[in-house]
Amino acid sequence: MSSTLPEARSSPATDGARRLRLGSDAHRTLFCRTLLDTFNPYRPAVIDWPALEPSERERLISLPIWDIAVQTEGRARLNVASYAPLVHDPLLRQAIELNAFEEGRHKHVLSNMVQAYGISLAPEPEYVLPGDPEWAFMLTGYSECIDSFFAFGLFASAKRSGFFPPALVDTFEPVMQEEARHILFFVNWVAWHRRNMPAWRRPWFELRVLAVWFTLLWERMRIAKDVGNGTQDNNFTVTGAKSVGNGIGIGGLLELCLTENERRMGPYDKRLLRPRAVPRLARLACRLMRW
Ligand SMILES: [Fe+2]
Ligand SMILES: [Fe+2]
Repeated sequence: MSSTLPEARSSPATDGARRLRLGSDAHRTLFCRTLLDTFNPYRPAVIDWPALEPSERERLISLPIWDIAVQTEGRARLNVASYAPLVHDPLLRQAIELNAFEEGRHKHVLSNMVQAYGISLAPEPEYVLPGDPEWAFMLTGYSECIDSFFAFGLFASAKRSGFFPPALVDTFEPVMQEEARHILFFVNWVAWHRRNMPAWRRPWFELRVLAVWFTLLWERMRIAKDVGNGTQDNNFTVTGAKSVGNGIGIGGLLELCLTENERRMGPYDKRLLRPRAVPRLARLACRLMRW
């Protein structure tokens, strides 16, 4: 799999000259084309999983995240795919279908890795088609905005500390960058979508956005309380930081997440919106900790 980041699609010099109106057709074309044109055609079936030293394999197996990682990708695929048929615009639908395809491919990569290294998984639950596809799409989108931000930092930390051997880091690099593309696509879709719905629907939509955030925060707080009970959880930040953090500390980890987030978002067209809520909260937390 290629691990290079895509080339910058516009220079700051041109950004000022060609402003983009959020919600316009040009905006929709740009965020859809950005996702579609940066597609990486790797195939999970042909990934050559690097041989690991017994200690490296042991470390990998001991990470208590594999069940939930596989299930999260499975659910993400279904949530995103279920929204695509409701979208009338062909380009937007194509981009959402690609997003769903990539979530399914993440699940394949993880499943193949788990098999290659003999990690045993709990039986997967049945993935149920969501009754409210727009809600499900937003739940996955905002959830990825939270989890990817921390995953970027944790991944960099695991790379630095040698927790993951370099060959394995290279194998997972495209998956990480795909999540960056997904959240970039998602926040631009939210901005475009809210400007293209009838005015009477908008207050209801904003309430739903708030409800999604509360649902996700509640879920993560509930899970944080259960950490240590021996069950696998999807609080990747808490579990992952303990495992791969290498004594970096929460402040150091947040700084690393911010740097990595900037780096991963850097190559894309500067006129597109970036995920802002989680980086802002992280910056605030860093400032408070320094104070
Ligand atoms: Fe994914
Ligand atoms: Fe994703």
